[in-house]
Amino acid sequence: MKKIIKNICCIGAGYVGGPSMAVIAHKCKDIKITVVDINEEKIKAWNGDDLNNLPVFEPGLKEIIRECRGVNLFFSNELKKTISESDMIFISVNTPTKNKGIGAGKASDLKYIELSAREISKYAEGHTIVVEKSTIPVKTAQTIKEILSSQKEKELNNKNKSFSVLSNPEFLAEGTAINDLLNPDRILIGGEDSLAIDLLSKIYENWVPEKKIITTNLWSSELSKLVANAFLAQRISSINSISAICESTGADVAEVSKAIGMDSRIGKNFLKVGPGFGGSCFKKDILNLIYLCEKFNLVEVAKYWEQILSINSWQQKRISKIIVEKLFGTISEKTITVLGFSFKANTNDTRESPAIDICLDLIEEGANLNIYDPKVEKQEIERIFNKKLKNKIEIKKINISGSVKEACLNSDAILIMTEWEDFREIEWDKIYPLMRDPSWIFDTRRILNIESIDHNKFNIWSIGR
Ligand code: UDX
Ligand code: ADP
Repeated sequence: MKKIIKNICCIGAGYVGGPSMAVIAHKCKDIKITVVDINEEKIKAWNGDDLNNLPVFEPGLKEIIRECRGVNLFFSNELKKTISESDMIFISVNTPTKNKGIGAGKASDLKYIELSAREISKYAEGHTIVVEKSTIPVKTAQTIKEILSSQKEKELNNKNKSFSVLSNPEFLAEGTAINDLLNPDRILIGGEDSLAIDLLSKIYENWVPEKKIITTNLWSSELSKLVANAFLAQRISSINSISAICESTGADVAEVSKAIGMDSRIGKNFLKVGPGFGGSCFKKDILNLIYLCEKFNLVEVAKYWEQILSINSWQQKRISKIIVEKLFGTISEKTITVLGFSFKANTNDTRESPAIDICLDLIEEGANLNIYDPKVEKQEIERIFNKKLKNKIEIKKINISGSVKEACLNSDAILIMTEWEDFREIEWDKIYPLMRDPSWIFDTRRILNIESIDHNKFNIWSIGR
């Protein structure tokens, strides 16, 4: 078996594969890393001259791409060649929730993982370490192992080959991915092959202190990723449920968060109230956990985790309802400005963004929407609504604006959905003349300093207050 890793391949050039390989390339100059993807447009964009238009927006990413691309970091569509030359292959493909068949709505669709494993099985040469990085259900490594050991695939090109499979879940959060990758709380490596574990660990040791690199068996590693996300999501649902109590009792959720977060046993992170969690992981991972519980007949445990998801949707429905109520019970033909469409600030990712469902509710109530986001592309927002809305008249109710001012023109209410820094700096006195009276602001992220806004001009609803 090889004693040193010289060539790494990463299958999947998305939000996980792109930034995580960029950071390994940045920290390990003697390793050649090639990120491959079946999506040719994506690879073209990763290789494009305009670093402001990379497929993934992450603070700090373009600087690393500028430094490493073409030096020891490459983006390519050549799966076969890259796989055959690699000592270690990371699988970072997407694993969306299945929408039909067994486990529909809960289980993850592993077709992209399976396809990647088949490609590795076909094209790899010599001994190859295969590392699962995608968020996956527990026991996926087993599937990968089984595919890799399938004799038929091996015989296809008759090469002597062997594999070790490791689980190395990624804990980066979008918007802070580069910092999370450079300064991880821990690196988790699951597997049985101690030499393979050691080789992967050595890569991280280039910048991560050894005591932060922990090893477990494969299943603990896979399960830990789901559980970490489930616990984080649970905190958000907990504080969001309390936001509703605050609104009814006169308490302020920001004060409650601060007060409880100072208890070191609770901790201050992940207690920010909002319109519910979005992103590609939390919902999917809790659904995976629920699916797992049901499979093992752990009905009560499944029900427990289901509740985290119900509170999340309830929070979104609650916000839509409050908007309608405040605007005299009807928003039909009224214009609502939606500021922010990504699921959180500092990312262009819209997967499971709470803005999507709230916008759909408002459209259902007959409103016209002006949507503005500083990083999400117009075509992406259009793609989402073209898929979700079948009725052409409803699609016409959505207008995607190029600036905050344009989005606020003739608007009855402004709905802040994402905590972008730009929105904290809005000069509200300049916005007021553009709007219709009475002018409302709904702040679902608690970013406004409401004392500084003229209450003679604006009615303000701020979540959890
Ligand atoms: C999450 C995990 O944090 C990360 O470790 C894992 O690898 C992937 O899933 P991500 O979804 O990118 O990362 O972002 P995160 O910062 O966790 O936010 C998720 C959602 O929770 C966002 O919609 C965010 O707005 C919301 N959130 C987060 C809150 O509403 N309140 C908080 O206090 C924190
Ligand atoms: P994540 O957030 O998990 O990174 P993304 O959807 O952003 O998810 O990225 C996953 C990437 O994996 C996509 O760009 C997709 O085209 C790519 N992909 C999926 N299946 C394959 C495959 N079999 N071979 C190569 N790339 C793949």
